[in-house]
Amino acid sequence: MTELLALDRVGKTYGTVRALEDVSLTLRAGEISCVLGDNGAGKSTLIKIIAGLHRHDEGTFTVGGEEVRFDSPRQALDRGIATVYQDLAVVPLMPVWRNFFLGSEQGHRRWGGLRLDADGMRATTREALARMGVDLHDVDRPIGTLSGGQRQCVAIARAVHFGARVLILDEPTAALGVKQSGVVLKYVTAARDAGLGVVLITHNPHHAYLVGDHFTLLKRGRSVGSHPRAEIGLEQLTTEMAGGSDLAELSHELGRPTDPAPEPREERPQP
Ligand SMILES: Nc1ncnc2c1ncn2[C@@H]1O[C@H](COP(=O)(O)OP(=O)(O)O)[C@@H](O)[C@H]1O
Ligand SMILES: [Mg+2]
Repeated sequence: MTELLALDRVGKTYGTVRALEDVSLTLRAGEISCVLGDNGAGKSTLIKIIAGLHRHDEGTFTVGGEEVRFDSPRQALDRGIATVYQDLAVVPLMPVWRNFFLGSEQGHRRWGGLRLDADGMRATTREALARMGVDLHDVDRPIGTLSGGQRQCVAIARAVHFGARVLILDEPTAALGVKQSGVVLKYVTAARDAGLGVVLITHNPHHAYLVGDHFTLLKRGRSVGSHPRAEIGLEQLTTEMAGGSDLAELSHELGRPTDPAPEPREERPQP
């Protein structure tokens, strides 16, 4: 498979805060790579480096085998890396189709200006959404009237339509209920099936395991686990994510064992 991007032992420090240290990650086409971790684990820092918002100060970052150091999100976008942030940059009162084309408007040059091709953009938006299986008939609706899940779906369809090869999603299901989360995850897999490489940030191991091909666990800026799907089950992922040993220690302190009482064991002779 083609390697779309690779981070090798990347680190990032903000002033005195070591936000990321020695983190490696590889992304191939047609793969969903999940990055899991608690608040402050360094997840957003990681994707900001990939998205061109921040620069790493240790390690190497390669895109298509070529080392890069982005100065702006525009540069990342030019290399086919699209990022959907949690607080989506949409204009709530604008129709869905205007948001879909925001910054990439289509039209005809006229008297030195751009005459928008509204009908064309409407039709294209409708088609692009339908191709991804997004069920949205009225693209004239203000995007602010869509549910959070639908907005995520529009953003994903938009990235696919404008030719992204890498899609980065920062906690797309964090604010959603079970049903809407399922819908968003469906479009995440649709993006993968369209051949994109997807980096999915989440703190929900269940969501990650529903779609993920690879799992990276971050803790206080460091990678504490990196597993292909074949090597890890949901249970182990959940335990690692919850900080298995930390939890066991906590439950001991609280005097409430997490596991049911163990089977009686053979008495061992005490020394
Ligand atoms: N712009 C910044 N300036 C200073 N510290 C930051 C900045 N962004 C993040 N941090 C710190 O870096 C660490 C990792 O944060 P972040 O990448 O946002 O984690 P996550 O997304 O996993 O919650 C945290 O300790 C956070 O406070
Ligand atoms: Mg974050």
